[in-house]
Amino acid sequence: MTDQPPIGEILVQADELKERVRALGRQISADYTGRDLLLVGVLKGAMFFLADLMRSIDGPCEVDFMAVASYGSATDSSGVVRILKDLDTPIEGRNVLIVEDIVDSGLTLQYLLRNLGARDPGSLEVCALLTKPERLVAEVPIRYTGFEIPNRFAIGYGLDHAERWRNLPYVAALADEGC
Ligand code: IMP
Ligand code: MG
Repeated sequence: MTDQPPIGEILVQADELKERVRALGRQISADYTGRDLLLVGVLKGAMFFLADLMRSIDGPCEVDFMAVASYGSATDSSGVVRILKDLDTPIEGRNVLIVEDIVDSGLTLQYLLRNLGARDPGSLEVCALLTKPERLVAEVPIRYTGFEIPNRFAIGYGLDHAERWRNLPYVAALADEGC
């Protein structure tokens, strides 16, 4: 039935998310002590992760957003990325930390790293809530990872399927993967 919630097995529970995001915040706070930090959230999937992560970081930090669309099928990106919303300010000389919801093939992130890297930031690192190591095709340096998950399509805590289920407080697999 199409009206049944397509929520399958829970991959990361809400309390595990909370604990891990706090730990990442502590680690980032320590690593960036005394340095200016700009978090770049990738819309829309990273919205809850970014909001929780930023509140776990001590000391001054700023936030900006990018929105990108990657061409491809519903569940596979092609690596051809279009910028829907760019940063508000230049990042030359700044310490930039890209905050992503999930790295699947890594192609979107590879594009973002090249694009932002060309703007001469002082440093450029990546913090991804989730990675799917089995699916990775691009070589992307991920400095901070929340959880490695199996090769399942994930929904919840910001991640969507056809724009829905971002509001789940946990990360689950999409039940019926016939998408
Ligand atoms: P990639 O280019 O294949 O690494 O895919 C990157 C983007 O596709 C992510 O930033 C997500 O927005 C989306 N994506 C990839 N896998 C999933 C998933 O399992 N659930 C929801 N969105 C996903
Ligand atoms: Mg994303």
